[in-house]
Amino acid sequence: MPLRNWLLAGSCVVVVGALAVLMRTTSATTPDEKPVVPDPATTAKFVMEPYLQFATRTSIVVMGETPTPTTCELEYGTVFPTDKVAKVDKADTLHEIKLDNLQPKTKYFYRMVCTDADGKKFVGKPSTFFTAVDTADAYSFTVIGDTQRNPVITGKVAKLMWDRRPNFVIHLGDVVDNGPDLKQWTDDLFKPCQELFAHVPVYPCIGNHEKNHAHYYKYFSLPKPEYYYSFQYGNAEFFCIDTNKPVDADSEQYKWLDSALAASDATWKICYHHHPCYSSDSDDYGDTAKTNSTYGALKHKPLIALYDKHHVDLAMNGHIHAYERTWPIRAGKVDRKAGVTYVTSGGGGGTLEPFEPTPAFFKNQSRVDFHYCYFTVQGGTLDCKVFDHEGRLFDQFGMKKD
Ligand SMILES: [Fe+2]
Ligand SMILES: [Fe+2]
Repeated sequence: MPLRNWLLAGSCVVVVGALAVLMRTTSATTPDEKPVVPDPATTAKFVMEPYLQFATRTSIVVMGETPTPTTCELEYGTVFPTDKVAKVDKADTLHEIKLDNLQPKTKYFYRMVCTDADGKKFVGKPSTFFTAVDTADAYSFTVIGDTQRNPVITGKVAKLMWDRRPNFVIHLGDVVDNGPDLKQWTDDLFKPCQELFAHVPVYPCIGNHEKNHAHYYKYFSLPKPEYYYSFQYGNAEFFCIDTNKPVDADSEQYKWLDSALAASDATWKICYHHHPCYSSDSDDYGDTAKTNSTYGALKHKPLIALYDKHHVDLAMNGHIHAYERTWPIRAGKVDRKAGVTYVTSGGGGGTLEPFEPTPAFFKNQSRVDFHYCYFTVQGGTLDCKVFDHEGRLFDQFGMKKD
């Protein structure tokens, strides 16, 4: 939607019109020169352009950050020009606005407009969001991991993901290379993903490179206690775990996941966390030129029994900067009928890593390349295609259930 239409629809037309008139009457211009009308979207820049978080069937969160304290108006609605406004009167730099009472599987238009104490406006790009679908509906999502301070590659992969028009994105952690470094959040992650994140909510899990920094909890709006959470989308339920924290049988996360999986009646149960349960990486779990790999850290292995117990369909992780898909595994063996498929997807930008020299018992597909995964789901059909950063398909798999 052209910005001009929004300006005509909103109060900013007054500001732009006044500036244009002022310049025409006071500027000395030659016949070749055209007066320049300042664009409010570029004269005052957001630190974080508006982006989406945590879509449900009836709600979504819109976030944005300005360099100085501002009040905020979020214009939104199912029609254009928009007919609703959510206002934040308390001046602040970070805005986190939850919209409730939305209609399911519905397209909304939105624009964030912030104003500082001097009246300077920060005008977000007009964008759209889509609320979560019902259980019978088709939907899609993309998966990326380990973006880690490589904005050129992250930007390419983000554009390819956006080209797919997914309903949402899952990020498998190591979203930045150094959690305390604010610029890595603003410039290396959110900027190259701006168009994607402005249209599609991203659901992250925390990696080791975030260093458990407050930036993670600040920029992602997640249900308490944030480091683990679940959400439903369509006929699937997703369970996010922080594998930097304990996941042994006595841990809070393990107990929560055990009861949350038991309580789920979703058609598809999908778990994700940063570290792998199964990986044939060359040196993270033993130097495989000299010894055998443990195929993942032993401290993360307790999750496997939980996934077997609750018949989880898919467990996804990052951390290893490559792609790997296992055969379905159950009780430590390939079980094509009843096993859990494990996918490592750590190809969002971090320095790529090789695999061990010999094939692991669980390995189905592997590739060392930047990439993303694209999942499509409807009813009892779940398909995945995996593309490299040039858009080349290099793996695909599917699951079916009644
Ligand atoms: Fe990583
Ligand atoms: Fe990592």
